[in-house]
Amino acid sequence: MSTNSTALQSSAVINEAVQTLRDGGLVAFPTETVYGLGADARNPDAIKKIFTAKGRPSHHPLIVHLSAPEKYDVAQIDWAALVSPWVRDLSEEALQIINAFWPGPLTLVFKKDKSVLNEITGGQDTVAIRAPAHPMAQELLRKFKGGVVAPSANCFGKVSPTSAADVRSEFVGMLDLMVLDGGDCEVGIESTIVDLSSANHALLLRPGAITPSEIFTKTGIKVSQTGENEANNSGTNIPRVSGSLRAHYAPTTPLRLYAPGRVLDALSEFPDIKSRVAVAVWDSDSSLGEDGHPSVYFEEVTVPSDSAAFASRLYRFLRDLDQQGWDLILFPEPPAGEEWDGVRDRLQRACFGSGPSSSNHASN
Ligand code: TXA
Ligand code: MG
Repeated sequence: MSTNSTALQSSAVINEAVQTLRDGGLVAFPTETVYGLGADARNPDAIKKIFTAKGRPSHHPLIVHLSAPEKYDVAQIDWAALVSPWVRDLSEEALQIINAFWPGPLTLVFKKDKSVLNEITGGQDTVAIRAPAHPMAQELLRKFKGGVVAPSANCFGKVSPTSAADVRSEFVGMLDLMVLDGGDCEVGIESTIVDLSSANHALLLRPGAITPSEIFTKTGIKVSQTGENEANNSGTNIPRVSGSLRAHYAPTTPLRLYAPGRVLDALSEFPDIKSRVAVAVWDSDSSLGEDGHPSVYFEEVTVPSDSAAFASRLYRFLRDLDQQGWDLILFPEPPAGEEWDGVRDRLQRACFGSGPSSSNHASN
């Protein structure tokens, strides 16, 4: 009974969200990766509101979110028909990847249909598309019957939100922002992005829960991992992926990684720190014990040693620790291995952008 009334209630709220989108407003909604800040992908004025709310440069392109019609059998979805209003020349390989991974935490970049607004693509001739698996996102998109552009619902350069409360704390000034509450995000880091816009090769633009090996295992298609950083961090190209900026996903408390058993080395960069340091330790490891600097108070926070579980809670840890007034946050370096690439990428950028000084955010 209570489940039913919850479902009814959220349906009414979703209808209101659909109307808000139709009226050119913004709606924050849950996906399985992180919360998105959505707008009608065919309405340039609505899209502009996203850039203003986030403080995001207007040439950073957005992902179009699509959903299949209701009561589908996943194997029966005609994805080619669904993406056709957005994509030019859908290849057989692209369709194979789509059939294997959608709906899910995978964004694909295609050559765009000419009707796709420049406001979405930053003037590029490609468009990024994803079909989220979260039931509330699907219901919203199905009822809206169109594409919804949605970047992560955080201010530019900051940690992505993984709960409705996180979204509200990012946009405290926007009292009228509609936020759909779908609970905590399961995947916890943003979708994997693969560029399929070049005829010859698939290219990984952003690592995430779905790895190139998984794509290869399920489809036989090889996704190349190189090229991303050269193209995006050279300073000469348009940043096709804003998450590729060195400073991103960043807390305001300084954050550093430590190598196994090397907590004190990580501290040497901060000779003035005399007080409180939060140290994340693997749940599989024994505690740091006496490994503390005498003048420093360490508090240990246990983090999962399984990559998916770690990803699921990474932004929660960063946000919560950032609120607790530590002088420094230390995280263990993620181990080698492709399943850790998404987490390692986010942690490294978070370290680079962290700290109260805005100097590292100059490009943001
Ligand atoms: O998991 C996700 O992907 C979340 C949820 C809300 O769906 N969204 C998300 O959006 O992470 P955002 O805007 O924070 O990051 C999307 C990335 C951006 O870095 C953007 O540069 C890249 O996708 N992107 C969008 N369109 C692109 C294109 N045409 N070519 C290359 N990269 C593109
Ligand atoms: Mg983002």
